[in-house]
Amino acid sequence: MAGSAKAILARIFLLLTFLGATRSQSLSNPTYNPDEVSTNLGEVESRENGPDLEFRYHDHDQMTRYLRSVSAKYPALTALYSVGKSVQGRDLWVMVVSASPYEHMIGKPDVKYVGNIHGNEAVGRELLLHLIQHLVTSYDTDPYIKWLLDNTRIHLMPSMNPDGFAISKEGQCDNTYGRHNARRYDLNRNFPDFFKANTKQPQPETEAIKEWISKIQFVLSGSLHGGALVASYPFDNTPSARICRSSVLCSVFQSYAHSPSIAPDDDVFRHLSLVYSNNHAKMSRGVSCKSGSPRFEKGITNGAAWYPLTGGMQDYNYLWHGCMEITLEISCCKYPPAHELAKYWQDNKQSLIKYLAEAHRGAHGFVMDENGNPVERASIKVKGRDVTYHTTKYGEFWRILLPGTYRIDVSAEGYLPQEVEFIVIESHPTLLNVTLHSAKRIDGGPYYRPVALPPRAPYSPPAPPSGIFASLTNSFNSIVSNIFG
Ligand SMILES: *[C@@H]1O[C@H](CO)[C@@H](O)[C@H](O)[C@H]1NC(C)=O
Ligand SMILES: [Zn+2]
Repeated sequence: MAGSAKAILARIFLLLTFLGATRSQSLSNPTYNPDEVSTNLGEVESRENGPDLEFRYHDHDQMTRYLRSVSAKYPALTALYSVGKSVQGRDLWVMVVSASPYEHMIGKPDVKYVGNIHGNEAVGRELLLHLIQHLVTSYDTDPYIKWLLDNTRIHLMPSMNPDGFAISKEGQCDNTYGRHNARRYDLNRNFPDFFKANTKQPQPETEAIKEWISKIQFVLSGSLHGGALVASYPFDNTPSARICRSSVLCSVFQSYAHSPSIAPDDDVFRHLSLVYSNNHAKMSRGVSCKSGSPRFEKGITNGAAWYPLTGGMQDYNYLWHGCMEITLEISCCKYPPAHELAKYWQDNKQSLIKYLAEAHRGAHGFVMDENGNPVERASIKVKGRDVTYHTTKYGEFWRILLPGTYRIDVSAEGYLPQEVEFIVIESHPTLLNVTLHSAKRIDGGPYYRPVALPPRAPYSPPAPPSGIFASLTNSFNSIVSNIFG
């Protein structure tokens, strides 16, 4: 009885929060509101059983059932939405896990993981399902997870390429069958490119992602792949000419070193990649997957230094949307047998969590006008880092930076530009509020002069238990050390 009352409540909850995802959502025009995420109305299956999750692969229907059952069982911590559909009409599901799943928390970062962009790289897809499970079940017992979910909205897309996955085969480690979408496009070559014109026809999956990341200001992101063991960071592409013209030649050249293509935030990207590799059970050892495949020192690499590519997702996230994304190659075998999944989860669990917490590093704040109203799309540029970030409609911005002294230029149309100096420290983010003054006086009088603000002392938000970047709870560490010694 309690169960069926719960089920009814869950159903009412779904009805109340339904904002028209399935029926009104067309392929090219997802209608979800990023601030009030809708959930697809559908049967809440296996709600009595709860979201038990085995270490095995889940096809699209099984994954959909699992996601729905989690959102029914944990309505206060999760929200399920679809950003669009694949070529063959499968939903591109996103599960938000957060203390505020339905609403952006003003001033707090949104982060994401995208799995399975290559349909035959299947480990990330399953690990994201386990990450969901771990986050919702640890909220009440693990203070670090509680802190993370109270201060971050985590968007998890287990599969960006469900059509490719549908034809992929368990046990296939090296081939490319299932890698592409149903129209045979490589989705990680399908994004607009800063360095070279990308002539590939945009695919529905890519269009859905582009729309998604234009609506939500993601601060940090990881794209999960398989076939190697390395954290690879921007840039993937390079202004210099390619050595190889055909894919056969390219694969030959891949075994030789390419030149790195250094991003303005190279220090930050290296740091973020190291957070992943150092928290992974073995990535940082840099052992090559098999003889003849490359070794990566400390388990990280610049993307172009490994091999340059055009139309990748990580450069696009960074250069178009100020979202720092890296590519996580988490399994030497692209689609390993299911009995190995538990081990992959243990290898990656700590990395997956601690990487996301890095969104709380650096500086963040608000850009406002003289009346305290938010200034949307103000440009934020750190001196010496030639990449522009923009404020959200609430005037928010985030800039992940390592400890040091920085100056930023803040500018917006109709306002006098402003330069602000600030420091970033290790233990907590710097809050930086910037007031822009109108470029013209309302009475038509002379222009205001820029007002130089004194450097701001860093502001301390309430610290999480044992520091944001300190290790996870002891119980978790002991699990990891028990397994890997
Ligand atoms: C910064 O601005 C935000 C948004 O207006 C406000 O909520 C916050 O209190 C401000 N903080 C400081 C330290 O000025
Ligand atoms: Zn891949």
